[in-house]
Amino acid sequence: MSEWYYLNGNLYPSHREAVLPQNRGLLYGDGLFETIRVYRGKPFLLNLHLERMLQGAEILELNLWAEKKELEDAVMQVIKANNLTGGWLRITLTRGTGAKGLWPSNNPEMEATTMITAGHGAPYSQEQYRQGFRAALVSFPRNENSPVVKLKSLNFLENILGRREAQKKGANEGLFVNQKGNLTEGTVSNLFATCGSKLFTPPPEDGLLAGITRNLVIELAKNQGLEVIEESFTPYFLLRSDEAFLTNSLVEIISLVEVDDIPIGNGKPGELSLKLHHSYQDYTEKGI
Ligand SMILES: Cc1ncc(COP(=O)(O)O)c(C=O)c1O
Repeated sequence: MSEWYYLNGNLYPSHREAVLPQNRGLLYGDGLFETIRVYRGKPFLLNLHLERMLQGAEILELNLWAEKKELEDAVMQVIKANNLTGGWLRITLTRGTGAKGLWPSNNPEMEATTMITAGHGAPYSQEQYRQGFRAALVSFPRNENSPVVKLKSLNFLENILGRREAQKKGANEGLFVNQKGNLTEGTVSNLFATCGSKLFTPPPEDGLLAGITRNLVIELAKNQGLEVIEESFTPYFLLRSDEAFLTNSLVEIISLVEVDDIPIGNGKPGELSLKLHHSYQDYTEKGI
């Protein structure tokens, strides 16, 4: 982590812990987060990340003390204090501190905790992109009806357990299958598969976080003349596809070359995935 972090209006040195033991983010995972890439000192697609976070805060009925403009300012303060040119930011929002009971309706004054941490450098290596990712199917089903899977919430235990299973099998990412037997997403990523010039990705109703990278990739693919189809698909379909890839804000786009030790296509990063990754990187150059 970098040198400085932000907490409720102030910057603190990273070695100083300031979140109180009664914080509901810590006690119950009662909150949200966003992870954002920083390119050349600018937070990429910050507005979309903040909008998603504020929508989530409304659904969870968090009592925010910071408006969007204040959050934007806070992000810029963290970038400046850490001299961040290339790297990442994480905004964590919790329901706050205090109030006994699972639903703290007796304490409407409780204010959300806002924390922003940062790190320098690219999160993934060139070697990882050259090799692509291997995935393993997670053994327990994703509940597509759960409200939690649609939010970027602090309730990450299913994802952690899914990732643990994948790593124990020597894979880089775990893929969730929902109760209907359809693939949904990775533990920290969205999933795409290609067949010729058609690009398939599971629809949000299948139980997933509609990633900001996912949405941008859909736009970029359409601009390149690909037909994008948001439709349910099974692990069998994925294994029969020409190419597959995973997306999230940190990794951008990374090829998926294998699932449960079975290669996808020729088992190497595919041309279309690499081409889309190049156009994604061109887009980041615009510094939006
Ligand atoms: C479960 C899950 N799905 C999808 C994504 C991709 O989201 P985004 O592209 O907004 O980073 C993430 C990102 O961390 C995630 O945790």
